Amino acid sequence: MNFEQEIETLIRARYPILYVISSEEMRVQQLVLDIAQRRQKKVFEWSCSTGIVPAGASIQSQKHRNLATRDPIAALDQVIEQVEPAIFIFKDFHPFLARQNHTVIRKLKEIALHLKNSFKTIVLVSPVMEIPAELEKEVTVLNFPLPDRAALNGLLDHIVEDMKQFSQVDIDLDEAGRERLIQSALGLTMNEAENVFAKIIVKDQRLSGEDVNEVFAEKQQIIRKSGLLEYYSTEESFGSIGGLGVLKDWLRKRSRAFGDDARRFGLPAPRGILLLGVQGCGKSLCAKAVSSQWQLPLLRFDMGRMFGSFVGSSEENVRKAVAVAESVAPAILWVDEIDKAMAGTQSSGHTDGGTTARVFGTFLTWLSEKQAPVFVVATANDISQLPAELLRKGRLDEIFFVDLPTADERIEIFRIHLAKRGRLAGELAEEQMLRQLTEASPEFSGAEIEEAINSALYDAFDAGVDLQKEHLLNSLSQTVPLARTMEEAIDRLRNWAAGRARNASTPRS
Ligand SMILES: Nc1ncnc2c1ncn2[C@@H]1O[C@H](COP(=O)(O)OP(=O)(O)OP(=O)(O)O)[C@@H](O)[C@H]1O
Ligand SMILES: [Mg+2]
Repeated sequence: MNFEQEIETLIRARYPILYVISSEEMRVQQLVLDIAQRRQKKVFEWSCSTGIVPAGASIQSQKHRNLATRDPIAALDQVIEQVEPAIFIFKDFHPFLARQNHTVIRKLKEIALHLKNSFKTIVLVSPVMEIPAELEKEVTVLNFPLPDRAALNGLLDHIVEDMKQFSQVDIDLDEAGRERLIQSALGLTMNEAENVFAKIIVKDQRLSGEDVNEVFAEKQQIIRKSGLLEYYSTEESFGSIGGLGVLKDWLRKRSRAFGDDARRFGLPAPRGILLLGVQGCGKSLCAKAVSSQWQLPLLRFDMGRMFGSFVGSSEENVRKAVAVAESVAPAILWVDEIDKAMAGTQSSGHTDGGTTARVFGTFLTWLSEKQAPVFVVATANDISQLPAELLRKGRLDEIFFVDLPTADERIEIFRIHLAKRGRLAGELAEEQMLRQLTEASPEFSGAEIEEAINSALYDAFDAGVDLQKEHLLNSLSQTVPLARTMEEAIDRLRNWAAGRARNASTPRS
């Protein structure tokens, strides 16, 4: 059943009070008007500034004000007096449902009884949910969905039609471009989508599938306002990851997984992955690269931020944060170093009254129940800190083990980082030279190779010459890789991963 059918059924079944959570009053109202027309009911709207007026009456016209009913009690009285079948839309009624407004709450409860035996319905529309315990049994809560593909497609049609009269505007939307633009705008309200399309047209005099970044910027606003997630913008792509072929291939295969084509093909949306492995081997890098590869916004979920610093409980913060992520979906939710945040879940009963454990419980519940296309990328170094529930099948699609790079992978990493610094030239570009560097860096992680290159660059700069292989070899020889001091821990990780996790790169020879 879609939303419209659901709400219509409830109205026909004489549910007295419907609570629609949405910030899109106009869309809700249009939908109610459509239903009312079919069912031959009148529609009235109420706000604390106009009182009860016929729905759709312009706010400019003075005569369409009913000042006496601006007071919520008076308004509810008028609902009772109405004899014909009708639907009353109350906009932003939630402040009047706060605990201290006991009279309003009581009145609404009594009206509910009256409405059950009438052909009248109250529809409360608010962006937030505020239901006092007294009304829990009388009120039915509905989440109004954001515009879907079809609705956004309609909006685009409308805009394209409108723009035809302006010859200087270049609308360049083929099937694929349209799909990308619509995909990127999913998660915005109709108004937000309309605004951002208008902004692009005004700014660039054009609209095409290339404009997805502008749409992401609009989403960035939403995320910033919520204060719980960080919108992470990144330039990293698969081209900046050396090795990890199996993981990259897995991700590449799913790059169109959230599109319409994939749905038509019958593919389930991917849920998420856990990247487990050795420090500095590219786990965080992969999370960033997925975002640009898939052209989805990257939202960083910082467990630490969920605790304390805000009013409201930590669990509530987690719920809000995932709701924000869902509201801009499709998106990637990046939970970096999930083990660090989890540290202490086992013992937290003693130290923080179990808050950490509860916060994780909330997160894990969401993870297993989530319907929205939010792809989770979690990273971790230490399995001993991870709760078994996270690793259970069904929560995530796959656990990848990211090991130290093999010799061949190190060659790729040298290439990438030398090229990034404009030094993949001359003798440094030669295969044999790269082999030599690779042999001089056994057990090195990608991060350590990058560090060694940076430090060699400093040496060269200091000596007043350009980078030469001696600088690199020297710098490599001075590095003691973490793997040497952490051998035991890495072995433990490898042992755990064998059989439990998939190797992110082709098996070591
Ligand atoms: N496979 C790789 N290819 C290219 N660069 C790499 C690779 N691995 C690491 N690096 C470089 O090292 C930097 C640090 O790596 P990254 O932050 O991804 O490591 P990590 O696995 O998340 O480590 P940690 O467990 O400490 O968080 C990267 O930004 C990148 O420049
Ligand atoms: Mg990391």
